[in-house]
Amino acid sequence: MKLLTAKMKMADAIHANYLLIPVINRFGISLGFGEKTIENICSEHDIDVDFFLAIINAFGNKNYFPESRLQTFSVIMIVKYLKKTHQYYRETLIPSIENLLELLLEKSSRKNKSLAVVKKFFDEFKKEFFAHLKREESITFPYVEEIYKMYQPVQKSIKKKKLISYSMKIYKAEHDEIDEKLYDLKNILIKYISGDFDNAICSAIIFELFRLEKDMEDHSRIEDNILMPIVAEMEKSLKLIKA
Ligand SMILES: [Fe+2]
Ligand SMILES: [Fe+2]
Repeated sequence: MKLLTAKMKMADAIHANYLLIPVINRFGISLGFGEKTIENICSEHDIDVDFFLAIINAFGNKNYFPESRLQTFSVIMIVKYLKKTHQYYRETLIPSIENLLELLLEKSSRKNKSLAVVKKFFDEFKKEFFAHLKREESITFPYVEEIYKMYQPVQKSIKKKKLISYSMKIYKAEHDEIDEKLYDLKNILIKYISGDFDNAICSAIIFELFRLEKDMEDHSRIEDNILMPIVAEMEKSLKLIKA
């Protein structure tokens, strides 16, 4: 897909990839762009346009991840974006899938046992997924913010004592587990659903699950490939100073 640039109209970016709508919303930008360019809108909302472009281009192009460019961005900006994404999963996307599931159960025969299995898998996935989001918000992100503060030249000497040994690597394993659970959930619907059920609602659920998968893939990539290496670098440098 063609890379989006600052001079491009925001509406054209959406026409090129409508999946960007929720991504753009995370920056506090809502629909009704008129003829405004990406640059216009970013400056109106006080958003760093380079960071914005890196995020939306990475979303549309799996092979384009400006890892080296993104590393120059403040980790604080990245964490803020990640938190917004969590909020979107928790408050919008997961509840919307949940509502569709309720509708599916309501409209299908109560005797259909395969739907109970779908619901059970969804509940397990949701529980694990939300627990992961919570762990990142209560442990990982505050840690990253703390490391970032310590890394600032003026504060290094004052706060370095607080440095605790901590590894972000465990989150990579958690991402894999959650991805697997989501894949299983999709497969139950695609391969094993049986009996009497509402096909249209079922298809809508599958669409939403694929959309969630794509969004999560992008999100985890930022956490694993962007945030983690920057933090590792900062940790390394801080420990060197301490020694
Ligand atoms: Fe996350
Ligand atoms: Fe994560």
